[in-house]
Amino acid sequence: MGRIARETIDELNSRLDAVAVVGDYVKLEKKSGRWWGRCPFHNEKTPSFTVDPERKTYYCFGCHEGGSVINFVMEMDKLSFPETVELLAKRFGVPVMTDNSGVPVNTGAQDRKKDDLIGMYRRVAGSFSYILTETPEGAGALEYVRGRGVSDGLVRRFRLGYAPGDPFWLYRFLLGKGYSTDFLAESGLFTKANPRRSFFSGRLIFPIADRQGRIVAFGGRILGGDGPKYLNSSESLIYRKRDTLFALDLAVNEIRNRKEVIVAEGYMDVIALHEAGVCNAVAPLGTAFTVEQARLLARWADRIKLLFDSDAAGLAASAKAILTCRSAAIPAFVVKHDGPAEFKDPADMLKDKGAEYLQQFVKHSILDFEYLLAESKRSPDDSDSMRKARAVASLFPFLDLIDSEVERESYVRLIADAFGTGTQSVLYDYKVWHDGGYIAQRNTESPVSHTIKMTDELYPLAAAAVNCEANPSLFAKLRSAIPIEDFSDSYAKELYVTLEECNRAGNMNFEALINGIETGDLKQFVVEKAATREFSEKPEHIVADSIKKLKAKGLMRKRNELVARMRSERNNGLPVEDLMHEKMFIDSELQSLKGG
Ligand code: UTP
Ligand code: MN
Repeated sequence: MGRIARETIDELNSRLDAVAVVGDYVKLEKKSGRWWGRCPFHNEKTPSFTVDPERKTYYCFGCHEGGSVINFVMEMDKLSFPETVELLAKRFGVPVMTDNSGVPVNTGAQDRKKDDLIGMYRRVAGSFSYILTETPEGAGALEYVRGRGVSDGLVRRFRLGYAPGDPFWLYRFLLGKGYSTDFLAESGLFTKANPRRSFFSGRLIFPIADRQGRIVAFGGRILGGDGPKYLNSSESLIYRKRDTLFALDLAVNEIRNRKEVIVAEGYMDVIALHEAGVCNAVAPLGTAFTVEQARLLARWADRIKLLFDSDAAGLAASAKAILTCRSAAIPAFVVKHDGPAEFKDPADMLKDKGAEYLQQFVKHSILDFEYLLAESKRSPDDSDSMRKARAVASLFPFLDLIDSEVERESYVRLIADAFGTGTQSVLYDYKVWHDGGYIAQRNTESPVSHTIKMTDELYPLAAAAVNCEANPSLFAKLRSAIPIEDFSDSYAKELYVTLEECNRAGNMNFEALINGIETGDLKQFVVEKAATREFSEKPEHIVADSIKKLKAKGLMRKRNELVARMRSERNNGLPVEDLMHEKMFIDSELQSLKGG
């Protein structure tokens, strides 16, 4: 039982370069004696994460995460303490000693299993690679790869391989190397249905590595016959799809240098890009690009360039990936295929047009929003107002991810201009959509949240507003009974004014009313009331009852004022007859309100 010796940890702490270590994960800049970067533990746009090179610690002023640099690496790479110490000790040339020296560091059963899995994948990858490049069995596959424009140098760099045609070969091979059946069952290499049958037989093999370049999974492309085009290892102790990116180990330096990463769709695309000298290219693993992957890339890159296929699936994937990038607070650019897509993907381009063409192609990209706007403009026929509304609404998920109201407003303006509509209308539809409203086929049953509270004053105005078209006399009654000065609720006042304006303009229709309301919350409130049909039953009664209630309230307020004045005048020896009369008048009014 050897724990890592205290001296080793102390020695490591004194020798390690905190800025260099953390800098592998976070872009750091020196400002007033401290090193600053964007915190990898929470989303932020301005740096509040700091590294102290003397103390060898990190701390984030935003989320209050902090600790030693060793803790930092543990957290980022999901390693155990001994693993991290070993990794860093190797890097900074510190010999690792254990408490009872001579005894090797015990990394625990779980860690040993991980090591064994990594060892097994390395071994299998070596065999596949050998079979591809050195044996007649792999000759056809090698021919195929070369035929797609991949050089032998890249075959080696990507450690490509070939899995023999017999689906049970791999199982026998590994059993022969001494691996247990239980271990193989958890290796991710064999099907659930038949634990002796490998996913990988007669396929071209693309090893998938972690950031340190350790192979943790495979992708395999079919070369003939029936079956899915690609099969991939299942997830295991060492492999989680959503955290892993194909070729990240080969691309990370270039990503860091250029502060930019290209995310392509498939294995072959990435290889084609690297072949063309575009070495900052990676790909997700047969699943959608995840927010974990985006966050991972944001450690080194300022922007993500999306280069997906030109087919419908590629377009949809781009739109989704844009949102994913924004949720990870990193802007995306889209490399645009020109016109009616001449080539489906980078792999095609390399093959038909060569490296130079591909290099030029990736240079031209447009900003995420520009791309989405262009896409949304493509579909609708501007004369069809419903489709126009839908096209505008297709941009709302993007607007939703913008934190800054100022930034959002500038996008709203661009949308309004592009569709020839008002910013108010865009903003209004957006608010309704945002709160679960009906635009763009959102579920109308979903509970509509609102921030405005119903008050006695707002009640009759809401009733008059939602029925303003069918029954304009509701507001007419209200305004003749109660002057605006008698309202104190600011929403009620605004609604009163807007109704008054529509009334005066002889334009008592719901749309005009809604467009006239300035405050978004109020607008939403009124639309919601209209949608829920809360005021469709006997609105006359609602208005009449409310008028009484509000009148009574106003009279009571006046009465209370009078009583107070009478008291003070009497105390000062002044006559109160007039006030008395006034009070009697109010009392009789109140009486008649109750009775009538
Ligand atoms: P593509 O079909 O575009 O693959 O799928 P590709 O890389 O361009 O393949 P080539 O050029 O025909 O050889 C893109 C990615 O989706 C995953 C793979 O990761 C692939 O690279 N995929 C595709 C699967 O996982 N399974 C499949 O059956 C197909
Ligand atoms: Mn493709």
